[in-house]
Amino acid sequence: MHSFARQTFLENMAQTSPNPLALHVVRAEGNYLFDVDGNKYLDLIAGISVCNIGHQHPAVVQAVQAQAAEFMHVMVYGETVQTPQSNYAKQLVQCLPENLNCCYFVNSGAEAIDGAMKLTKRVTGKTQFVALTDAYHGSTQGPLSLMSNDYYSQAYRPLLPSVHFVNQNDLSAIDSIPWSEIAGVVVEIVQAERGDQLSSREFLQALRRKCDQHCCLLIFDEIQTGFGRTGTLFAFEQVGIVPDVLVLGKALGGGMPMGAFIADRALMSTLSNQPILGHITTFGGHPVVAAAGAAALNVLQSEDLISAVFDKEKLFRQCLKHPKILAIHGRGLMLAVQLADFDSVQLCIQKMLDKGLFSDWFLFAPNCLRISPPLTISNQEIESACRRILSALKEN
Ligand SMILES: Cc1ncc(COP(=O)(O)O)c(C=O)c1O
Repeated sequence: MHSFARQTFLENMAQTSPNPLALHVVRAEGNYLFDVDGNKYLDLIAGISVCNIGHQHPAVVQAVQAQAAEFMHVMVYGETVQTPQSNYAKQLVQCLPENLNCCYFVNSGAEAIDGAMKLTKRVTGKTQFVALTDAYHGSTQGPLSLMSNDYYSQAYRPLLPSVHFVNQNDLSAIDSIPWSEIAGVVVEIVQAERGDQLSSREFLQALRRKCDQHCCLLIFDEIQTGFGRTGTLFAFEQVGIVPDVLVLGKALGGGMPMGAFIADRALMSTLSNQPILGHITTFGGHPVVAAAGAAALNVLQSEDLISAVFDKEKLFRQCLKHPKILAIHGRGLMLAVQLADFDSVQLCIQKMLDKGLFSDWFLFAPNCLRISPPLTISNQEIESACRRILSALKEN
């Protein structure tokens, strides 16, 4: 019966790698996943920074059920008033600086990056972008153009031309960019897939200055860092630099698929003029998804889940001491535990699974183990997880 389900998965669904983990999840609740054999796993990655308030929070489930019973899809984005969408947009805008006052909802992070890139081209009348080496902004062709890594992008070229790559925190590289040609800069404050590497405030300030001087838009990809993951609602709050466009995804939908790009209304109006319908989507801001996202944001705020994030980071750092742990990168509950190499990480992930822990690695930091649990993880769960990680490392 179980192997039949696995076979169905392997035979009927397109695969992303030759050897998927294929853990057969049948239930998720709070900080745990349950497999078909009744095994329980502490979720140390939260669906890659999606399930920030844990799985199946009753408030989110209730919001989904209530909205599904009212109406689901009725009309494409932007043509009808749908209260769940507009209320969620208002709720988000109320949490953001003055210039981030207008939300465009889409269905995924990649789509949101793509929309932000289109918006940037319209606003600036320019076409070239700056992105960081070893950044991941999504798999569709716009975001893929922002990927420096040839291994992943070469097979799909030609992509969008004229993307300039700079290494994270390389201030001297910034000066060699032809700024007068640049439409926008896409950057993460914590570069997730490079192993949760922090962009320095100095570097971000230099990018902000160049954008101001040359009429380029600064775009922060907060798809992974958003919604409390790094210890504040959004990571840009910690560096005190406000972007022109904020891109959200992952936890935005409270476990449902959603992306958004958020900018000033004056900028956003370019998408509705010459041509009208400059950016359209059928499902963007789907009412059930918007209701889920709004409920999740309410939980994040009303249960004050963000204020304990730094202490939880500290606890992970205190408990994860072992000769095989070479460094711990990241901020808040967005951590990358550096081991010797890819093989050590893979072995550790497998051993952790045997010990009831679910983890993962990084696209551009294959020597790092991902720790990005739901923010609801308790101190006891952190201590227990760390004990099991250390025991997995001892067995390696
Ligand atoms: C930083 C970042 N940007 C963009 C994306 C793309 O989001 P999605 O997978 O929803 O298209 C991801 C996904 O992992 C991401 O981590």
